[in-house]
Amino acid sequence: MRTYQTSIRAGFEMKILFLDQSGKPGGAELCLIDIAKPYRDSALVGLFADGPFRHLLEQQQISVQVLATQLLQVRKESSWVQGLGTLGQLAPMIARVALLSRDYDLIYANTQKALVVGALASFFSRRSLVYHLHDILSADHFSRTNRRLAVTLANRFASLVIANSKASQAAFVAAGGRSDITEVVYNGFEPEFYQSYQSNLDQLRQHLGLDGRFLVGHFSRLSPWKGQHILLAALAHCPNDVAAIFVGDALFGEQDYVKSLYEQVTVLGLEERVRFLGFRSDVVPLMKVCDLIAHTSTAPEPFGRVIVEAMLCGRPVVAAQSGGAIELVETGQTGWLVPPGDPLLLAEAIATCRNQPEQAAIIAHQAQIQASQRFQMSTINQQIGELLSRCLP
Ligand code: UDP
Ligand code: GLC
Repeated sequence: MRTYQTSIRAGFEMKILFLDQSGKPGGAELCLIDIAKPYRDSALVGLFADGPFRHLLEQQQISVQVLATQLLQVRKESSWVQGLGTLGQLAPMIARVALLSRDYDLIYANTQKALVVGALASFFSRRSLVYHLHDILSADHFSRTNRRLAVTLANRFASLVIANSKASQAAFVAAGGRSDITEVVYNGFEPEFYQSYQSNLDQLRQHLGLDGRFLVGHFSRLSPWKGQHILLAALAHCPNDVAAIFVGDALFGEQDYVKSLYEQVTVLGLEERVRFLGFRSDVVPLMKVCDLIAHTSTAPEPFGRVIVEAMLCGRPVVAAQSGGAIELVETGQTGWLVPPGDPLLLAEAIATCRNQPEQAAIIAHQAQIQASQRFQMSTINQQIGELLSRCLP
């Protein structure tokens, strides 16, 4: 029998073919960078689309290949199965991955389309398949057909399903997924990266043109279910000295939603109190200039990296009480939870935080300590290493 230490070593020395459908850096992709890093000497990340995610991987010296010969429509939510295109489009990709994977110990599918391709390729190449489930497979996010396809492929081909939260695991099982192959592993973070950050925050605050106001930050791609409109509506119920920054861009074609957000700002007369900053790579200083970070997803959030990042930055957090967020935040202890989609209750929580700065600071400090321990990258990577080594034949 292998000892714990030996199996960890076997894990980090494994040759892994990671697969991800996106060329853009969403949370699942940022998480993949951290998971792939310990294996980078002998790993390859195969992407189904080119884009800035490839550059982020290369910056970390992780080998990448863009596998798509033609652009596959990449959507995150319910229509992803249509985006797969015809079998004719998929077949060359499956054949290519099957061939490539012969040089690797296992295939690690990080997204749903990666699961489809990885599952069939693993069948042909007889390699183990691991599926990292970053989604909640419920009707809020996916059609019945998509849920059934994901669950059927995972049940039949995967040796292991890593769920990013208990909520994602529960939805997988509720959709018919095998509980005996699932393990919950939270995203890992390097607390020092968030805590030791020094820069001129006063200058950044002034640059935003919102100095002197109570600043609420929202850090998410712009998408209807991320609920930026809920924070805008809540702002209209807050005193005039409460302002908000929205950090993030529409990554998957949600241009109509972006337009509707701008219109909402005009209708509510919030022009002086709101800034849309687009996608930013300096999330840490931006979080640090905020007095509160709001997470407002209207559908259950599978995990919610931004919640943990805000905690690690030492900022108080108010989050929508659903999905993985419930596992991250304990109301009154490490933040506040409010019902999803309720601007009035969100406005109340913002007021509580604004009117009780000392209490908010205590809560933020408790959350920072707890998050630094719970989501420590080295521990999470060890956990994954051990799980992967169990998948070796
Ligand atoms: N993020 C970023 N720049 C932005 C907006 C977001 O780097 O302008 C990062 C954010 O810090 C977080 C990730 O994108 O690490 C989003 O992950 P999360 O799990 O919160 O949500 P997702 O978009 O993956 O559903
Ligand atoms: C997905 C989920 C998000 C999660 C991230 C990392 O993008 O939407 O909630 O934090 O994956 O697991």
